[in-house]
Parts: sequence; structure tokens; C-alpha cells
Amino acid sequence: MPAGALAGRTVLVTAGPTVEPIDAVRYISNYSSGKMGYAIAEAAAAAGARVVLVSGPVALAAPAGVEVVPVKTARDMLAAASDVFPAADAAIFAAAVADLRPANPADRKLKKGRDDAALANVPLTENPDILATLAAGKRADQYVVGFAAETNDVLMNAHAKLVKKNADMIVANQVGDGLAFGTDDDEVWLVTADDEVLLPLMSKRAVAGRLVEVVAAHLA
Ligand code: C5P
Repeated sequence: MPAGALAGRTVLVTAGPTVEPIDAVRYISNYSSGKMGYAIAEAAAAAGARVVLVSGPVALAAPAGVEVVPVKTARDMLAAASDVFPAADAAIFAAAVADLRPANPADRKLKKGRDDAALANVPLTENPDILATLAAGKRADQYVVGFAAETNDVLMNAHAKLVKKNADMIVANQVGDGLAFGTDDDEVWLVTADDEVLLPLMSKRAVAGRLVEVVAAHLA
């Protein structure tokens, strides 16, 4: 990719898991490492973009030249991403947002013995879909990329997700059997309305580089 391919552009990236409190000390989350989102942010910055990385809690250092906005819950992530989205030329939603959150988190620690009923039954409620919410209002000059991790029917589900979430591209991969979550390598399809491109197994950094290249080409 030519250096400076994204010069003057702003790129929003979401990454990592979200954590959703059950009480003051417990939460629901997932195994997302954030590696893909961080690699994308790094690649976009290397291509000259101003990059804002809205990140759930991960064990990764901020990539050089990237502005990191740390968040915990899906609702925090939506608020932070909403602040940046209008200024973004491209938005890449790589976060593994928790679909559900405890409906009534306790602000103290629930105690065994005293709060057994509350601990045994944690009612859940749906989180907002950050990608769908923001992409619903995207302008024609904005390019929006979502991810899809599927165990079955990867391409069919990617096309459905493209339409449902109003994205321009879905990066789709097969998960399960140790694939994707937390690993360093990935094999993905780049799915757009009229194209399906397979990127064979390569490092997440290489996937990120290719993806940023494709996004830069769409913006050009
Ligand atoms: O529907 P699903 O979770 O498979 O969609 C994955 C895509 O949607 C990813 O790009 C993810 O970052 C985004 N997403 C989101 N907010 C949610 C759920 C998913 O932004 N609540």
C-alpha cells in the first residue's frame, strides 16, 4: 500500500470485547483479544489516517499514533463511537460487542447466602448494535466495515449481515475449533454486495493491511 494512502482521512475502529456488569465485582464478557482491531488501527495509522480506536478492555498496547478511547460496556462503546462517527471517512467495527447485558446490575457485590436468588438468576437485556445504529445513518461518502464470526454458512450469513446492518463490507470468518478468537492468524472473506474475496490464512496484521488497502481504494 502506498504510504499516505489514507492521508487526511479519519478512521474509526472499534475493538476488543465489551464487559457488562452483573454487580460491583462480576461481569459478562467474551474471549475477544482485540488483536484484529488493534492491527487495523495500526495499519490505518501507518497509511496516514487519523485513527480513533474505541476499545473494550484488552491486554494490548496502544498502536503508535492512534488515539485510544477506552470503554467498558456496549453502551459506552456506542456513545464513544457516536461521537467520532460523523467525522469518520471510514468506520471499521471489529469489536466483539456483548449481545446481552444484565438488566439490573447491582451497584454492590451480591453475596452468597444473602443474594442467592439474584445470583442464580441474572435477567439479561439486549445491547444496542453499534454498527447497525451508526451505519443506519451513514453518508454516501462514508465506508463502513463490519465483521462476522460464524460457525456455519459463513458467506450466506455475511451477505445477510451486510444488508441488515447497512454495511459496505463484511469481513467474515469461520470460528470454532480454535479458529479466530485470540489467535494470531486468520482466514477471512471480504464480502461486499457484488464481490466475495478470500484472503487465505495469514497473520491478523497482514489481514489488517489488506483490509486497509481495500478501504483506502474505496475512499479514493
Ligand atoms: O450480529 P453480529 O454480532 O454477528 O455482528 C458482528 C458485527 O456487528 C461486528 O462488526 C460487530 O463489531 C458489530 N456489532 C456491534 N454491536 C453489537 C453487535 C455487533 O457493533 N451489539
